[in-house]
Amino acid sequence: MGPRLNGKSQQGHKMVIFAAIFVLMTLLILYGSNNVNESIHTPFHVAAHNIMKPTDLKRWAGRDGYVPFHGNKSMTLHCRDCALVTSSSHVLSSQAGSEIDQTECVIRMNDAPTLGYESDIGNRTTVRVVAHASVFRVVRRPNEFLHQTDGNSTIIFWGPPNKLGKEAKGTLYRFIQRVSMTYSNLSFFSIAANKMRKFDNLFYRETGRDRQKSHSWLSTGWFTMVIAIEMCDNIKVYGMVPPSYCGRLLPRKKPGPKKMPYHYYKPRGPDECQMYIQNESGRRGNHHRFITEKQVFARWAKLYNITFTHPKW
Ligand SMILES: *[C@@H]1O[C@H](CO)[C@@H](O)[C@H](O)[C@H]1NC(C)=O
Ligand SMILES: *[C@@H]1O[C@H](CO)[C@@H](O)[C@H](O)[C@H]1NC(C)=O
Ligand SMILES: *[C@@H]1O[C@H](CO)[C@@H](O)[C@H](O)[C@H]1NC(C)=O
Ligand SMILES: *[C@@H]1O[C@H](CO)[C@@H](O)[C@H](O)[C@H]1NC(C)=O
Ligand SMILES: *[C@@H]1O[C@H](CO)[C@@H](O)[C@H](O)[C@H]1NC(C)=O
Ligand SMILES: *[C@@H]1O[C@H](CO)[C@@H](O)[C@H](O)[C@H]1NC(C)=O
Repeated sequence: MGPRLNGKSQQGHKMVIFAAIFVLMTLLILYGSNNVNESIHTPFHVAAHNIMKPTDLKRWAGRDGYVPFHGNKSMTLHCRDCALVTSSSHVLSSQAGSEIDQTECVIRMNDAPTLGYESDIGNRTTVRVVAHASVFRVVRRPNEFLHQTDGNSTIIFWGPPNKLGKEAKGTLYRFIQRVSMTYSNLSFFSIAANKMRKFDNLFYRETGRDRQKSHSWLSTGWFTMVIAIEMCDNIKVYGMVPPSYCGRLLPRKKPGPKKMPYHYYKPRGPDECQMYIQNESGRRGNHHRFITEKQVFARWAKLYNITFTHPKW
C-alpha cells in the first residue's frame, strides 16, 4: 500500500489517472484507425516498415535448405562472380551477352529462354531458379532448359512444401524426380520446408509485414536474389529497375515511364510497371510485392556488393 492520502490530493491523484487513461485511449483509437486507413488506402510498400536488425544472409544460409530430388548431391555451389539475369525486357538490346557468358556463374529464372536472345543475355546457365508453377514449361522443352551448355547446371525449384516436399511425394515431386534421373548431368533441388519458412521470416524481418496476413506471395525474384547472395561473393544484376522506377503508386497523375514488356520473351505480354503497380496495391487475393522486394534488394545491395545494370543504379 502507498502512503495515505488526504481527500484533496486523492482527488488530484484520480484526475491524473483519468487523464492518463484518456490519453492512452486516444492514442489507441488513433493508432487503430491509422491501421485501418493503411490497410484500405495505402499501397503495400508505403506502409510503415519497422525493420529489425538486418539479417546476415551469409550466415542465414546453411547448406541443409536444399533437398536433392535424386541421389545424395548437396548444394555446395560457390562462385566469386555471378550474373543474375532477370526476365525483364530491359535486357533487350543491352548487348551484354558476351559479358554475361564470361561471368563465372550465370543465374536465370523460370522458363526464360536463351535461344534467340544470346547477344543480349548470353547462352550459359549455371543455376536456374524455377517456381512450382513453371515446372512444366521448363521440363516440356528440354533442349532449351535441360541440355545446358554448362553441362553441369543446377536447377532449384521452390514451391509450397505440400507440392514439392519430399514427404508429400505428390505428382509434381515424382515428376521432377523422374526428370532428374534422366538428366543425371544436372542437379535438381527443391527448397526444403524449413527453408521456405525461413524465406517467410526473412520477408517479415525485412518489410515488417507478415507474408500471409498481408496476402503476399514471394516472387521467384526474391528467392533468386537470396540464393545468389548465399552462393556468390559479387552479383551483377541485369535488367532490374530500381524500386522508384515506376513512379508514385497512388494517385497516378503523370504518365509513367515508357511501356516495357514484363518478360523479354513475351513482347506482346503485359507492361512491366503496370504489373508491378497492380500487384503492389492488390488487396483481394494474394499478390507479389515486386516494388517492396526491390526496396529490400536496394538495401542488400549495400551489404553484399550487388550492382545493377541495364538500367544502372
Ligand atoms: C552418395 O551416394 C553414392 C552412391 O550412390 C555413394 O558412393 C557416396 O558415398 C554417397 N556420398 C555421400 C556423401 O553420402
Ligand atoms: C557439378 O556441380 C556440382 C554441384 O553443383 C559440383 O559438386 C561438381 O563439382 C560439378 N562438376 C563439374 C564437373 O563441374
Ligand atoms: C555461346 O556463346 C559463345 C560466345 O558468346 C559462342 O562462342 C558459343 O558458340 C555459344 N554457344 C552456343 C551453344 O550458342
Ligand atoms: C553430360 O555431360 C557430359 C560432359 O560434360 C556431356 O558430354 C554430355 O553431353 C552431357 N549429357 C547431357 C544429356 O547433357
Ligand atoms: C563488387 O562487384 C563488382 C562486379 O560484380 C566487382 O567488379 C567488384 O570488384 C566487387 N567489389 C568488391 C569489393 O568485391
Ligand atoms: C501479379 O503478377 C503476376 C505475375 O507474377 C500476374 O500473373 C498477375 O496477373 C499480377 N496481378 C495483378 C493484379 O496485376
